[in-house]
Formats: sequence, C-alpha cells, structure tokens
Amino acid sequence: MAIQKINSLEEYHEQYAKSVQDPESFWAEKAESFKWKQKWDNVLEWDFEGPNIGWFLNGKLNITENCLDRHLETQGDKTAIIWEPNDPNEKEKRITYKELHEEVCRFSNVLKNNGAKKGDRICIYMPMVPELAYAVLACARIGAIHSVVFAGFSATSLADRIIDCTCNILLTADGVFRGSKQVPLKAIADEALEKCPTIEKNIVLKRTGFEVTMKEGRDVWWHDEVAKADLSFDAETMDAEDMLFILYTSGSTGKPKGVVHSCGGYMVYAEYSFRNVFQYKDDDIYWCTADIGWITGHSYIIYGPLLAGATTLMFEGIPTYPDAGRFWDVCDKYKVTLFYTAPTAIRALQSFGDEHVAPYSLDSLRVLGSVGEPINEEAWHWYNDKIGKGNCPIVDTWWQTETGGILISPLAGITKLKPSFATLPLPGVQPLLVDNEGNPIEGNGVEGNLCMKFPWPSMLRTTYGDHERCKQTYFSTYKGLYFTGDGCKRDEDGYYRITGRVDDVINVSGHRLGTAEIESAINEHENVVESAVVGYPHDIKGTGIYAYVISYNKTEDEEAERKQILDTVTKIIGPIAKPDQIQFVSGLPKTRSGKIMRRILRKVAEGEADKLGDTSTLLDPSVVDEIKNGALVNA
Ligand code: WT7
Repeated sequence: MAIQKINSLEEYHEQYAKSVQDPESFWAEKAESFKWKQKWDNVLEWDFEGPNIGWFLNGKLNITENCLDRHLETQGDKTAIIWEPNDPNEKEKRITYKELHEEVCRFSNVLKNNGAKKGDRICIYMPMVPELAYAVLACARIGAIHSVVFAGFSATSLADRIIDCTCNILLTADGVFRGSKQVPLKAIADEALEKCPTIEKNIVLKRTGFEVTMKEGRDVWWHDEVAKADLSFDAETMDAEDMLFILYTSGSTGKPKGVVHSCGGYMVYAEYSFRNVFQYKDDDIYWCTADIGWITGHSYIIYGPLLAGATTLMFEGIPTYPDAGRFWDVCDKYKVTLFYTAPTAIRALQSFGDEHVAPYSLDSLRVLGSVGEPINEEAWHWYNDKIGKGNCPIVDTWWQTETGGILISPLAGITKLKPSFATLPLPGVQPLLVDNEGNPIEGNGVEGNLCMKFPWPSMLRTTYGDHERCKQTYFSTYKGLYFTGDGCKRDEDGYYRITGRVDDVINVSGHRLGTAEIESAINEHENVVESAVVGYPHDIKGTGIYAYVISYNKTEDEEAERKQILDTVTKIIGPIAKPDQIQFVSGLPKTRSGKIMRRILRKVAEGEADKLGDTSTLLDPSVVDEIKNGALVNA
C-alpha cells in the first residue's frame, strides 16, 4: 500500500509528535510501503560528530523498481512523463509507465554495453528532454552514481565536476534549444573533455541537429547505441546506503562540492514529502518548472513524482518564450493541477504585465508551490491572486541540495498559510534556532541560525571524496547540529520564516553561488588584481551580484573591460554567475589583518552608503569615500 497521506491539521500534529517521540518506528512504517529486495536490520544509526548517518541499514533495493516496476501492474498505461518542447509548434510527448520502464531498461543496456559498472560515476550534461530522465534512471538501475551538471554551466565547470568524482562516462547532446537561442552543447563538452582523461565514452544524443565532431573510439551516437540494445534489464541490487547520486553545489569557500545522497533514505523521503506537501491525488497533473540539473529537478521532477506513480511534466524551454504567457499556456494545455516554480520566475512574469495571464483560464490549478529563495509578499500575492485566483494554497517549500527533500513547508490545504513563511517542519524534521555562540533559542517570537538537531532520511551523507569538508561545512559550526547556513525567524505562532543566507553564499534567481567562487572567476581576467563580490536586492533575481574590482592599469574604456570580465565569468562558471554591477575601485576596505569588510561593501551595494557604521578599524578609511562616491546604486 502507498504511503499514507496526512489529511488534517490535527493529524499533522499527531504525526509530528510521533515522529519526534519514536522516529524509528515512524520512518519504518513509511518505508514498509516500498519494494525492498531485502528488509533492513536497523532503521537508523547516526552521530553528527563524524558525521555518520545511515538509514535502513542492510536494506536492499533498487529505486527504479519503486519508480517503475511496482507501478506496471496497476497503472502501466498511465502517463508517467509529459514532455513539452521548447518550441510550442513541436509535438509534445507522452510516455506511459510501461514505455518509461522499457526506455530505462534499454538505456541501462546501453550503459552496460559501453562499459558502465555498478559504482561508476556517470556525468550527465543534457537538455530537458525525456532522454535525460531515461539516463538518470538507467544510472540508478545499473547502480552507477549519476552526477547531473546543469546544461547552462561552462566547459570549465563541467570539467571540474567530472574530474572531482572521476567520471568514466559522459552523456550529452549535440545542442540545446533554450527560447530563441541554441547552445552547442557537444562543442562545450569537447572543450571540457580535453581536461578529462578519465572519460572513456561520450554518448551523444541528437537534439538540435548541429554539426558535431565525433572522436573516434570515445564518442558514440545515442540512437545507434539504443538501436543495438536489449529491452529488458534486471535492476541491480543496491544497499540502502549505497550512493545514488552526487550533485555539485556552491558553498562559501573553494570550488563547488559534490553533495552525496544515498538510495534508501532518499527514496523514502522523496515520495513522503511529495505526497504530503502537494497533497497529491492519483489523477493530478504535476508540473515542476525546475531544471533536472538542480536538486529540485532530481527530487520533484523525477524521483518523488515517479515513486508516487504520478504524471510529471518536463518542460524544455523558458518562461518567456515565445512570450511571457508560456507557463500559463502549458498549464491550460495539459490541465496542470499542481504547479511548482521559483519566486524569480514569478517576479519576472509579473513584470511583463497581467495581459500575459489574461488569455488563460488556469482553472485546472489546485496547488501552487514556490522554492529556491524567500518569496516576497508582493510576488506571493500576485501568484495567489492572478495565478491561483485565490483558490490555490501556496506551498512555500524550504529545503536545500543537502537536505534532499522539502523540510519546512505548509501541507497544501492543511496548514494555515502566511505569506513569506515556509510555516512548519514536516514530520521527522527537527529544526533548532541557535545564536552565534550556538546556544539554543527556545520559545516563539525569536530569530537565529537555522540548524537541525536530528537526522532525516534524505540528508546528505558526505561530500564526495572529502568527508572532512562535509564535517567542517555542516557539522562543525555548532557542535552536534547540522547547520543550514540560513538565518530564520520563528514568529509568535511558531511559524518559520527563512530570512536568507548568513554565510558568503548568495542566492541569485534561486541558484546558489559562492561569492568566493565568483571572485576567483573575475580574478582570472588579466587586468584584475583583486575583487570582492557581494549580493544586493534585485527586483527580479532576488539577489543581484555586485562586484568591486581593482585593476592593474586603470582602463580608458570601463565598458569594454566590464564586458571582458563578464565574458571571463561566463567562461569559467556560466552566464548565471555574471555580475549585474561592476564598480572599479583603487582599493578595498580591509581590516588591519587584511580581511575585507564585506559589511561595508554590502551597504554601499544596497544603496545605504549613509549607514556604514563603525569604520575606524579599517586600515585605510579613505577607500570608503572613494567607494561611496563611485557607487552604482543610489540611495
Ligand atoms: C538555499 C538552498 C531547495 C531547492 C532549490 C535551492 C534558499 C530554498 C527557500 C524558501 C527561503 C529558500 C535557502 C537555502 N531557499 N528554498 N522556500 N524560502 N529560502 O537549492 O541551491 O541548495 O539552495 O536556497 O537559502 O539554504 P540550493
């Protein structure tokens, strides 16, 4: 029987209490609903010092048997994936559970035929097409670890990620359609592969028809391989704690790290959270607009919905192509009932004007979701009024790449909403606010750093190849706790409101970037001595990127140099990391010990140069005046 869904607020409180009193029997009961090849011995073993976290120990399973095989008898002919192409004139695809099962088995054989083995790391760098879902699931079926890299990342970023986890196979496509643009994906991959000797096979999907060069012995065409492959494949037996996937994400220091998720706990939590947050019903048409290159796509386009046997919509394009009504057009076209998107998309579409919403009925919608960053009240109300017509609960879902699934969120139609609040923790989730010294902050009407004091099944297990870094980043700031990096309020009703990152991480259009990572990309420009990056409020992106740059030689043509810097950042990270503002300065405000005082830079970028506070500890206070006078934003 499927995981039981919470049906009332009373039941939520009951379940929550149970999950805290006896987490093991709570989660064991949820896990019973899945298909295990062998039952677990212990539900949970953990310590946050190591950290060592294991769920459903010695349980054996394959997540794809739970996403696919177990649905075949009862709903083999139900649509598993609806695919909407970039171009509205291209024909959509509907893939049933039976067909999806077959495609995944077939591609599992393709991977095997190309030398893939259990435990291998396989990099996936692809457009949002059904084959991307087949590829992800085929990796899971053969027991290989997938590392999906968002197709907007640069060759350098792709290479870094392939090298970090020594992938032996790359799956990519000739190109990507993105709105009116086309991206030559294979050419970018070729550039990356020059630095990646571990890649033995590159399987290339034909999507755009771009001309590509195929390297003899390494590159093969997807369709050729599929044509040769068998249709059946017995899923590999995986231990609950075997790695399912690696997903790279930015932090406050160094290069992006590979967050590792394991098979059993992730599976249980993905379905549990999907069903409960969205209050999923069997005939729902569910659409999450994220890209599978991010955790949202992993958990809530592929795994969560397919585990629940849902119909999940995959969209190849962008919200503004061919016009700013595209999302609403697609909602009407397929009678979408559950719609999940990011605040940045909502703000962007709102800015195009209500005339892009007016032509659509949107009357199939039942639940709206938001993810990736705090949703401001204005966007919340527009979403609620214009899209939901006041009839659809909005679930503001807070979570992270590391948490694997939604941790704090309303349950649609059950939890009383409050705009801009993620509201309450899901059962099994035990948040704790602490002050900067790590002292717990009890009671309501308080604010602090958001931690978790108890494990949940889908939490990260390690950062690939560097467990110490995992420990340092998440488990050392506050002893015995998982630290999220977010600030958070708990109001008089005990409702949680995420206030944003408290570390040097910025959230740009719902994408996480480390300021240090952007700085090191800017510093690659030959005329840059040093740079400092901070975030500032941006109407559409939520946070904009403001860079202060010191040049070796003062340039005559600042615009030309700005453009070169943007190109450098695009080349090293990708277009998402391009600064919105670049201010050339002759020095940065530093303390006597050489630490950049980012507080000052943030204030200037926010247009609050008159509120700098104490600057007396600066090595050279005069740089502050220069920075204030050259500020690109006016207070
Ligand atoms: C960071 C995680 C979770 C999938 C997308 C982003 C911010 C996420 C919310 C929300 C306020 C949010 C946090 C978090 N964030 N959701 N509903 N309200 N902030 O995943 O790239 O791992 O980023 O996004 O700051 O720490 P991510």
